[in-house]
Amino acid sequence: MLSYIEKSGNNIALMTNKPKWTAAKIKALKGKQKITCLTAYDYTQARLVDDSEIELILVGDSLAMTVLGYENTLPVTMDEMLHHTRAVVRGVTSALVVADMPFMSYQVSTDQAMFNAGRFLKDAGAGAVKIEGGSERVPLVERLVANGIPVLGHIGLTPQSIKETGGYKIQGKTTEAAEKLIADAQSLCEAGVFAIVLECVPEELGKAITEAVSVPTIGIGAGRGCDGQILVIHDLLGMFTGKSPKLAKRYAELGDAMKKAFGQYRSEVQDGTFPGEDNIY
Ligand code: KIV
Repeated sequence: MLSYIEKSGNNIALMTNKPKWTAAKIKALKGKQKITCLTAYDYTQARLVDDSEIELILVGDSLAMTVLGYENTLPVTMDEMLHHTRAVVRGVTSALVVADMPFMSYQVSTDQAMFNAGRFLKDAGAGAVKIEGGSERVPLVERLVANGIPVLGHIGLTPQSIKETGGYKIQGKTTEAAEKLIADAQSLCEAGVFAIVLECVPEELGKAITEAVSVPTIGIGAGRGCDGQILVIHDLLGMFTGKSPKLAKRYAELGDAMKKAFGQYRSEVQDGTFPGEDNIY
């Protein structure tokens, strides 16, 4: 397990027997062990997730919505993604940190995509990048991988394409669409991705894609046949009141717990019970 030495206010994490996850090690888990992945967007979340022995942490562009309050993932910038990736990397000693390439950071040209992907590894310390899209991304994936940048693919529902697809809908429902997704997964796999996120596809198709490729599939709303699962940390923790998407299981109700704590703090300030005897100098 992990032990920490507190030194000058900084935490120095000393590795004992925790593995240091790499893209190659994650790829090698296919067929051996289910892979658990979670998003994290800051240092504190990253430390807690990493201490829980989760193998892969995604600094998802979902932070546009969960952290920055945008309506969708499109507005988040390279600088914002780099800022959050650096914070996550500072909190991690074991998990593979994957940085999500934001909308328009990899679509304009492969040269620009190479430069931006390189920044996530070189300037922010990530271990890999994620890009959305199928066979149209093959030349880019090949170039990134050939230059030492591990890539996590992402097919099915690709939130950066909502303006074109018309919203957050289950993908691969027709035979033609399902066959296209299987072909996309195979071409990404041949191009060299180390794993593929499958978002919002019927369970049967998630299983078929998983069986059709030699790299792990990481499902989010893609059923039980995938090699691993990923959730958005805010969904898992129940940070937002109201109904969660069906794909997300709430493992806690932290939003309610936080509001309760804030309310209690306010009433104690109002009635003078905080600060109490224990909180004064
Ligand atoms: O941005 C994100 O959080 C993601 C996951 C939902 C896979 O892409």
